[in-house]
Amino acid sequence: MRVCIIYDTKRGSTEKVAHWITEAIRDIAEVRVSRVTESPNVDDCDLVVIGAPIYYERPLPSVIEFIRSRNGFDGKRVAVFILCIADKFGKLGKKYTEARYMRLIIEPIRGEIIAKRVFDGWILRENIDQRHLAQDWIKRVLRAFQEGEVIDGIEHP
Ligand SMILES: Cc1cc2nc3c(=O)[nH]c(=O)nc-3n(C[C@H](O)[C@H](O)[C@H](O)COP(=O)(O)O)c2cc1C
Repeated sequence: MRVCIIYDTKRGSTEKVAHWITEAIRDIAEVRVSRVTESPNVDDCDLVVIGAPIYYERPLPSVIEFIRSRNGFDGKRVAVFILCIADKFGKLGKKYTEARYMRLIIEPIRGEIIAKRVFDGWILRENIDQRHLAQDWIKRVLRAFQEGEVIDGIEHP
């Protein structure tokens, strides 16, 4: 099974999460991690894990453009994650990240989405709490993938 983790970043936190995820499953799957700027091929990926940070109320446009350029990962199974700070602002913040940020990244995806995850982003100090959350998440995603299941709903920190 080949898992392709694809992301973009401006300040490095989404890259960090992508690498934490990679580290967690390196021994149990063939994993390839790439930034969208490397224009990775997804044809031979069984599971695509796509990640974006939120800037100015939307996922980084380069990630959306990448999804569109790969025909929305049509025919693939896909797991999605975003990093943002709005999620920290209580119930309302969580609702907002679901209704706006998650919706915007999901919109161009044509493959089967098996998991959707919000992580707390950061600006200056690395949020190390996200490490075990990300690693636990990707292991559950892999299990769901192997069992042909879908993780319902949008998961938050
Ligand atoms: C200039 C700027 C704009 C941002 N805009 C938003 C936003 O609209 N909503 C939000 O929830 N987070 C926003 N954030 C927080 C980022 O999503 C968060 O810092 C994320 O971890 C950045 O990812 P990166 O380090 O991979 O670039 C913003 C951060 C910066 C620095």
